Amino acid sequence: MNIISVAIDGPSGAGKSTLARSMAGRFGFLYVDTGAIYRTIGLYAWEHQIDPKDAEAVTAALPEIRVELTYGEDGLQHMLLNGRDVTGEIRLPQISLYASAVSAHPAVRTYLLEMQRQLARTRSVIMDGRDIGTVVLPDATVKIYLTASETERARRRMRELEERGTPQPFEETLADIRQRDYNDSHRPVAPLRQAEDAVLLDTTDLTFSQSEDAMEQLIRERAGL
Ligand code: DC
Repeated sequence: MNIISVAIDGPSGAGKSTLARSMAGRFGFLYVDTGAIYRTIGLYAWEHQIDPKDAEAVTAALPEIRVELTYGEDGLQHMLLNGRDVTGEIRLPQISLYASAVSAHPAVRTYLLEMQRQLARTRSVIMDGRDIGTVVLPDATVKIYLTASETERARRRMRELEERGTPQPFEETLADIRQRDYNDSHRPVAPLRQAEDAVLLDTTDLTFSQSEDAMEQLIRERAGL
């Protein structure tokens, strides 16, 4: 059987992970959430009082950071930081900006690149992030750039944080989203941008189930399934 790779990129809160997870289920592909990998490095910086914007300090810490991605019996992706399962902690709202800041450093991106590529070599994957279609898997079978309006993304993020038990007011959530959009798309290395051969999917006016169907159709068409 052919190995298929689906790259999903887009700004924070566009619904990449929920949709990608759902597609992985529909197609039987492995789901890889690459943001979780950057979040794990962000968590390390947070716990060790390292300024996440300080390229030198973050780069110097890399040899002490062992990041592993495993799949639990629940089939879900777990992140290990030096052997400790940090899957829950990396979702804390304060870690989002840390992840965004550490992800701007070239050394961090290089450190994580091969690990991400390796996951797509032996099986069909659906991978979401910011630079999957442009840098990590430039030859991906299907590339989708998923987006939604800023306000809608902030609303969705707020709901998600509420469900996780770490609620945040709307204005603060919107400010975080804006800050991350700016950081992620203005960094010199692997900035967030739509790959030339990516299909744009804007879900502002779509329900979740409509977005699922739209994405499934795109994948079927583009991958010839
Ligand atoms: O997808 P997320 O919100 O969990 O990602 C957290 C941060 O990690 C995001 O703000 C930018 C960074 N990131 C990245 O630079 N490249 C990726 N492929 C995925 C995430």
